[in-house]
Amino acid sequence: MDSIVIQIASFHHVGYAHDISDLIQESAQKRGTGIAKRSPSYITQKINEQKAIIAVTNFGELVGFCYVESWGNTKYVANSGLVVHHKFRNQGVAKKIKKLAFQHSIKMFPEAKLFGLTTSLPVMKINSELGYEPVTFSELTDDDAFWKGCESCINYEILQKKDRRNCLCTGMLYDPVINKMKKKHFWNKSKWLSKWANIKKKMGDNKLSI
Ligand SMILES: CC(C)(COP(=O)(O)OP(=O)(O)OC[C@H]1O[C@@H](n2cnc3c(N)ncnc32)[C@H](O)[C@@H]1OP(=O)(O)O)[C@@H](O)C(=O)NCCC(=O)NCCS
Repeated sequence: MDSIVIQIASFHHVGYAHDISDLIQESAQKRGTGIAKRSPSYITQKINEQKAIIAVTNFGELVGFCYVESWGNTKYVANSGLVVHHKFRNQGVAKKIKKLAFQHSIKMFPEAKLFGLTTSLPVMKINSELGYEPVTFSELTDDDAFWKGCESCINYEILQKKDRRNCLCTGMLYDPVINKMKKKHFWNKSKWLSKWANIKKKMGDNKLSI
């Protein structure tokens, strides 16, 4: 069986740029849903900037891809262009690619809010697991350059008609500040619970009751 290596893409992978671009395009056409087009030269740029994650088999076959983009003076970061070749779907590859893209993005842009736009149920599941939450478009970047990417999507007219307030995609956001607070709250709660468990244990040991 093929083994699959998922890693941050480097210049060795530039040769895959055309195949990646075609794969994104074909997958969008098959789904019949909108997607922003990515040219081979844009993908090459992302690879050279170390802002891409690639999955390849040990035989060199392209399995999947995703890249990192920053917007609004790096206040926002998106992990976009996620695609897995149909031969390798439903094996958890997208989940692993997205996790590495997420970790890589946080390392590169620790202060940034991570966001995504998607119509894909698997992507919504993966994002939720990573801590993203669904939000209205007003919570996302207002960087025009980001929204320009939607121009090649078949649903762009809808986005325009709605004044960029919503579209067929769901917006999802990971806010590192809120997430830190949630984690802190969780640990405080668990600390409190373990203290309470200790008290209860001592009470039990000493046959005390309240
Ligand atoms: C979306 C895509 C990347 C998922 O790739 P994948 O490797 O098959 O996904 P995974 O195996 O990692 O699955 C992730 C989760 O989604 C679920 N899932 C996968 N395909 C699904 C489907 N068609 N419908 C519903 N859930 C699905 C999996 O069960 C898993 O959930 P779980 O953790 O609860 O088990 C792949 O289908 C694809 O390339 N599609 C075309 C391009 C695309 O839509 N990209 C997203 C643009 S935003």
